[in-house]
Amino acid sequence: YKRITTKSLIEMKSNGEKISMLTAYDYTMAKIVDTAGVDVILVGDSASNVMAGHETTLPITLDQMIYHASSVVRAVERALVVVDLPFGSYQSDPKEALRSSIRIMKESGGHAVKLEGGKEIKESIKKILHAGIPVMGHLGLTPQSIYKFGTYSVRAKEEEEAEKLIEDAQMLEKIGCFAVVLEKIPADLAKKVADSISIPVIGIGAGGAVDGQVLVIHDMLGMNNEFSPRFLRRYLNLYEEMTKAIGQYAADVKSSDFPNEKEQY
Ligand code: KIV
Ligand code: NA
Repeated sequence: YKRITTKSLIEMKSNGEKISMLTAYDYTMAKIVDTAGVDVILVGDSASNVMAGHETTLPITLDQMIYHASSVVRAVERALVVVDLPFGSYQSDPKEALRSSIRIMKESGGHAVKLEGGKEIKESIKKILHAGIPVMGHLGLTPQSIYKFGTYSVRAKEEEEAEKLIEDAQMLEKIGCFAVVLEKIPADLAKKVADSISIPVIGIGAGGAVDGQVLVIHDMLGMNNEFSPRFLRRYLNLYEEMTKAIGQYAADVKSSDFPNEKEQY
């Protein structure tokens, strides 16, 4: 694939090719993620946590999401860029949801939007889709509802919530979403969902029997030490590496080792 589209992703699922997805929030990081060959770049509202230092995803604004998304879009040549609709930009009514989605598409150049929720936001998703904007769903542990859940622990362990999740996923497929993220749910349930719909299911903490995986880039690069859920695989310990490098720089300045003869004009 020269350029990933929503269609390519659905093709990948039917060919049994797994989909890789990572977050990015800025130009430099997005360039690296795109060059490395990741299929989908998510400009997640996790920017609220990892970029801005908020405790939850709730505070980030639509303007801030557009700023992050436009920076990412400028870097990307191959990946599909999906942008989260932030908390408060779509829950009131379908018109607001469409207005926010149009702003993202026009002002950032992103390729699709992602919204958290199932049947509660069905009409909003339909409205966005009718405008020609591709929508990715997000079910399970939906962090914008953290104050309702009261905990970040695994969702849909009980029958009732599991059944609603399956119904929601099937509804999202039926109305025309091109993919759905399942966050932090039992692997068996995620498999059941992935087997029951033809659009790709992208998991985070949802096991290996789904159609693709997503992680927050700062987490998988080991840039933060505090967040260690079971589903996270750390590919680097950048927190340590960067602290060492930056500490070395500070020491070199103090000792007048930097700059040396060759590093000046
Ligand atoms: O905001 C985000 O990073 C996300 C992923 C974890 C799916 O929504
Ligand atoms: Na998100």
